[in-house]
Amino acid sequence: MIIVTGANGQLGRMVAERLLKRVPAGEIGVSVREVEAARDLEAQGIRVRRGDFDDPETLPHAFECASQVLIVSTGTTGEAAVRGHRAAIDAAAAAGAKRILYTSHMGANPSSPFHPMPDHAATEEALRRSGVPFTSLRNGFYASSALELVRASLETGVLAVPEDGPVAWTAHADLADAAVLALTGEVLDGLSPALTGPEVIDMAGIAKILTRVTGRPIRRVVVSDGDYRAQLVTHGAPESAADLLVGLFAASRRGDFAPVDPTLADLLGRPTVCLEDYLKSAVTPPR
Ligand SMILES: NC(=O)c1ccc[n+]([C@@H]2O[C@H](COP(=O)([O-])OP(=O)(O)OC[C@H]3O[C@@H](n4cnc5c(N)ncnc54)[C@H](OP(=O)(O)O)[C@@H]3O)[C@@H](O)[C@H]2O)c1
Repeated sequence: MIIVTGANGQLGRMVAERLLKRVPAGEIGVSVREVEAARDLEAQGIRVRRGDFDDPETLPHAFECASQVLIVSTGTTGEAAVRGHRAAIDAAAAAGAKRILYTSHMGANPSSPFHPMPDHAATEEALRRSGVPFTSLRNGFYASSALELVRASLETGVLAVPEDGPVAWTAHADLADAAVLALTGEVLDGLSPALTGPEVIDMAGIAKILTRVTGRPIRRVVVSDGDYRAQLVTHGAPESAADLLVGLFAASRRGDFAPVDPTLADLLGRPTVCLEDYLKSAVTPPR
């Protein structure tokens, strides 16, 4: 069976639904923290079992009969995240998986100032040590994250964030299709090339796109890391979340989320979604 974790989240759910189009439902299992939330998948014939990386005793049952396991990285950071990913890798190996796949990031790097990136690098090290063939899908930066970073500017008309660099924004849908291909025969072995969208765009470019798609001027203003952090905290963000975002901009201006790589489009056999189209559909109310 192909086991997909995180199937109640955005990416994992897209992978499970798209797998159904290529693989008999009886050969797909999902490992989720809340079984109730995946009843719709069960109704389509997918095996649904509870698996929580923070409760490793749940994983042998969740991963039973696994030929491959796609481990969707969790949204936590730091040692807890890596511990959870390691538990999932150990459980996949113990279940007899012939390949372990993992959703990493194009910026995975032990010395990155953006906190999730050292976690991805540490998980990739655990994959290497597992002794099981693995595929680390080095996903491009989510286009949906771009929208979250600039959402306030849609209200204020001012995109006030730290100095940044170009980012190869990438759609969930394209990354889900790539994961399905990797699970169903397209052999990507070891660390994949960066799986990116078609172009790099910085915050100034996003302000221009938003101006075009909303018809309202949105002005890009550079603020210092310290002022940005203070603003986030004043508006109620936990300090850890503010630090995370400051680190994101620091990594972006180092060029860690650039350049574009053709592998994703080549794999899909079609152009990848561009940020302007993504933002247009996300910020324009449906008619
Ligand atoms: N490439 C990028 O730019 C980028 C940006 C942001 C995040 N990410 C990474 O990509 C991952 C997937 O993205 P997404 O949009 O699908 O995020 P998401 O919707 O937040 O899904 C994350 C999934 O991780 C699961 N999870 C969390 N803790 C877990 C645990 N202890 N054991 C097992 N599963 C656990 C969640 O389970 P529940 O459904 O039960 O909560 C959820 O299904 C994120 O979690 C994050 O690691 C990548």
